[in-house]
Amino acid sequence: MKQNLVCYRTFEEKSPSSFETYKKFNGYTTWEKLLKGKMKPSEVIDAIKAAGLMGRGGAGFPTGLKMSFINRDKEGQKYLVCNSDESEPGTSKDRFIMQKNPHQLIEGMAIAAYTMGATVGYNYMRGEFMKEFESCEKALKEAKKAGLIGKNILGTGINFELINIIGAGAYIVGEETAMLESIEGKRAMPRFKPPFPANYGLYGKPTTVNNTESLASIPVILDKGAEWFKKLGTEKSGGTKIFSVSGHVAKPGVFEIPMGTPFKDLLELAGGMLDNRGCKAVIPGGSSMKIVPGKTMLKAEMSYEGMQSVGSAIGSGGVIVMDDRTCMVEALACVIKFYEDESCGQCTPCREGTNWLHQNLRDIIAGKGKIKDVDLLVEIAGKIEGKTICAFGEAVAWPVQSFIEHFRDEFEFYCKNGYSKVKGK
Ligand SMILES: Cc1cc2nc3c(=O)[nH]c(=O)nc-3n(C[C@H](O)[C@H](O)[C@H](O)COP(=O)(O)O)c2cc1C
Repeated sequence: MKQNLVCYRTFEEKSPSSFETYKKFNGYTTWEKLLKGKMKPSEVIDAIKAAGLMGRGGAGFPTGLKMSFINRDKEGQKYLVCNSDESEPGTSKDRFIMQKNPHQLIEGMAIAAYTMGATVGYNYMRGEFMKEFESCEKALKEAKKAGLIGKNILGTGINFELINIIGAGAYIVGEETAMLESIEGKRAMPRFKPPFPANYGLYGKPTTVNNTESLASIPVILDKGAEWFKKLGTEKSGGTKIFSVSGHVAKPGVFEIPMGTPFKDLLELAGGMLDNRGCKAVIPGGSSMKIVPGKTMLKAEMSYEGMQSVGSAIGSGGVIVMDDRTCMVEALACVIKFYEDESCGQCTPCREGTNWLHQNLRDIIAGKGKIKDVDLLVEIAGKIEGKTICAFGEAVAWPVQSFIEHFRDEFEFYCKNGYSKVKGK
């Protein structure tokens, strides 16, 4: 299977992150084309729409459509923000783009910013990304030295300042409006929407927030053509997607594969199941997406429509594989503990609900649960879902609802017996 087609294409080179390596891959030629007026901003948007690129940050919103929300001709400051927070458990793809192909991200950001009339861009990384910060800073220095970023780029009068910044390591800052608050120097609390960032974003100015992988895909789409990119994937899911595969697999890793690849092929790339055990369940898109039974996943394909058809979503591409020794009650308690810790506390249903869910699960594990507590978990999840300012509410509710939908017997077993003898399903 062909890998490393779009974002990871420099990965097998000797010094993948260097300016020289990126130039070998036609690096910065699209940016230069735009600067020299050989391509119009409207052509960029049309190509990204035609390529079928969907946002790789989790929600899968069409990238070209999002870019078209900003009126580049309207006077005033506009901003581009690259969301490199990558906090979703199970997800580890953006860090590799920043480590091994930072120039492609810089070029993608420059192209996207110019297309939307933004002269300033921020690449916001999570607090733990010291290595990635260093490689992005080094690449930025090289791009500036080559005159490709900064003021009066290549004498065209076009300006684009790029700033790499590093957060303090909070999951919630990955939510786009919380990220804007954090850049402004405030506590990362999501904002009410509307107004949306395209109208009222960073410092109240029109802003677009895109994921690292989304932005890094742009130069390749424009260089090789929308049709080329689209055809790599399926009709509804263009291009490739990077999946990080973790859990009970023999070789956990990060793989860039064409959209529509069968899950079983991705599992094979990750070395197959650890100790040749059975595949009990998979969370296909980071811990906030719905869990899918293994036997269903083994027949599914990795695309937006493929994951929708099995009741889940691609999300951020964090594939968590669980074998037939996994206790689903403890697995859910582990996921919910994360959300309890990371709730920003702004909305009552989330602040109180995550704590209540975790307490309830701890009681069930300790043998203090009753069958009605399993229903209570579902009820609490339903009272969080859709009732919070940001989608953190869904991120908590979906695991609870789907774990219980598919593995209710294990939760009931705990309530009846107080400990787990559950092996296999
Ligand atoms: C709680 C929460 C955490 C999020 N974390 C991330 C993240 O780490 N990285 C990311 O790109 N998007 C994250 N998102 C989604 C962003 O809000 C936003 O949709 C995304 O950055 C848009 O980029 P895209 O259109 O390229 O996907 C998160 C959303 C929520 C609700």
